[in-house]
Amino acid sequence: MTDDSRRDPTFVSKYGPWVLVSGASEGTGAEMALLAAAKGCNVILVARRMEKLEALAATLRQTYGVETRTRSLDLAGPDAAAQLEACADGLDLGLVIFNAGGDSVGGRFLDSSYAQWRTLLQRNIDTLTDACHRFATVLVERGKGGMILIGSEAAFQGTGRLALYSATKAYALNLGESLWRELKPRGVDVLNVLIGATDTPKLRTVFARNNLSPDAVPLTLAEDVARVALDHLGDGPTVVLSALENDDNPMLSRRLRRERVIYHSEFLNHFYGPE
Ligand SMILES: NC(=O)c1ccc[n+]([C@@H]2O[C@H](COP(=O)([O-])OP(=O)(O)OC[C@H]3O[C@@H](n4cnc5c(N)ncnc54)[C@H](OP(=O)(O)O)[C@@H]3O)[C@@H](O)[C@H]2O)c1
Repeated sequence: MTDDSRRDPTFVSKYGPWVLVSGASEGTGAEMALLAAAKGCNVILVARRMEKLEALAATLRQTYGVETRTRSLDLAGPDAAAQLEACADGLDLGLVIFNAGGDSVGGRFLDSSYAQWRTLLQRNIDTLTDACHRFATVLVERGKGGMILIGSEAAFQGTGRLALYSATKAYALNLGESLWRELKPRGVDVLNVLIGATDTPKLRTVFARNNLSPDAVPLTLAEDVARVALDHLGDGPTVVLSALENDDNPMLSRRLRRERVIYHSEFLNHFYGPE
């Protein structure tokens, strides 16, 4: 007997029938996969650790009666975007969730070589950009769908010991907001979901590595990230999870960020002619 209690045919018809989650093996990615399946979507699960993906896929099939596909892929690899696109070969893909993106190097800029930082840039900038181009092309062709970029409040300012991570998240924020403007009229919703410290296995390994307690900081639950991301997919370009109701801070307010994107996009009409 499958659990049909959270089926959402409207969501499936707009963003299904297949949803791809990059970084689906645990944490926020796994929670978004669970919620998409609960709504009735089939799910493509991508990350490096295949055994975790297989276990989650089995849960999705048994609990929600949906179809699944799993692929092991290193998103920091040079042709990862093409491989990510190939994960959806032959399937009617309606939603792509870019979740993998944590600080895989960590620490001060000079404490790691550029070659090490390059892997973070490859995954968070090169692969993300190439994959957005590929998937947006497919979604625009079918005339409906969505893309979610899981971001960070680190995007709002530079931060010592997060230099390249915060820079990549700022890049993704501007990319997502621009794509929201360009793709919305073509039927595709783009949403940046900016989160703060969130209880994921990855963050817990950081606490453990530094002999610190996770209880010292308030942590957002991964399932709350999933709920906000899927519930607000049409409310782009950006939601800041810790400030969902904030309507007057220019940095955090959904409305003010949207108005600013629209204003600047229309300002370009003076240079490029009408959009
Ligand atoms: N946790 C936080 O406090 C926090 C705060 C702000 C923003 N965020 C954002 O939330 C998202 C999730 O963060 P997280 O803490 O769960 O850490 P994460 O390191 O992004 O891990 C999330 C998932 O991505 C996969 N992944 C990581 N690197 C990969 C790679 N090179 N190729 C393929 N898959 C990869 C991991 O699985 P495998 O290891 O199996 O590949 C895992 O399933 C990220 O975008 C992060 O920037 C997190």
